[in-house]
Amino acid sequence: MKRPILAPSILASDFANLQREITMLNESEADLIHVDIMDGVFVPNISMGLPVVEAVKRHARKPLDVHLMIVQSERYVEAFHKAGAEIISVHVEACPHLHRNIQQIKALGIKAGVAINPHTSITELENIIADIDMVCVMSVNPGFGAQKFIEHTYTKVTALKKMIIESKSNALIEIDGGVNQQNAKALLDAGADVLVAGNFVFSAANPKEVISNLKAVLA
Ligand code: DX5
Ligand code: ZN
Repeated sequence: MKRPILAPSILASDFANLQREITMLNESEADLIHVDIMDGVFVPNISMGLPVVEAVKRHARKPLDVHLMIVQSERYVEAFHKAGAEIISVHVEACPHLHRNIQQIKALGIKAGVAINPHTSITELENIIADIDMVCVMSVNPGFGAQKFIEHTYTKVTALKKMIIESKSNALIEIDGGVNQQNAKALLDAGADVLVAGNFVFSAANPKEVISNLKAVLA
C-alpha cells in the first residue's frame, strides 16, 4: 500500500447507518477502515465488538485496521481475525507478554501492530520494533473520539522514525487521534505513514470530500 495511508475511524460514524457509512468509505479515497475496540477496562469506554466487525466486513471493500484497546487481547485476536481484521494492533500497556501476543497475530497471517499511549516512551518498543508491521502512536488518550491532538506527538514520531531506520524495521508509523487538515502534512513530514481520522471525517457535511482533501494534502 502506497503511503501516505488514510484510515478513517468508524468510531465517529453513524452506527444506526453503518452500511451507508461503509459504502461511503468504499467509494472514497480511504485506504483502510480503522475499527476501535474498547472494553471499558483498559479504556474508560465501550465501543463495539465482534458482531459489529463481522457486519462491517460484509460490506467493506477496504482492509480493516483493528485497534484493540482491551486487556487480555490474546483471548480475542483469533476471533477478530475470523471477523475480518487484516491488521490488529494491541497496546503495549495492556500486554505483559507483548512478544507472544505479536507472534500470535503474525501466526494468523495478518499484520501486527503495537499501540502506545501518549505517556509511553518509544524505548518500550526497542525489543519488539523489528518484529512488527506498524506502531500506532496515540496522539490523544485512548477511549474517545474528537479529542484535541497532543503536540508532543511530533517529537515522538521523529524519534520513532529514527529508531525504525536504525533497527532496519519495516514498521509503519500510524497516528491516531485528533488528526485534521491542519496537522496532517506536518505529521507526514515528521515520519508518519498512516493517519487515522475519525471526527474530522465523519462530522463533516461531505465526508468523502474531506477524505479526498486530506489525501490531496498528503500527496
Ligand atoms: C481513540 C481512538 C481513535 C479515535 C480517533 O481512542 O483510538 O481511533 O477514533 O478519533 P478522532 O480522529 O476523532 O480523534
Ligand atoms: Zn484507534
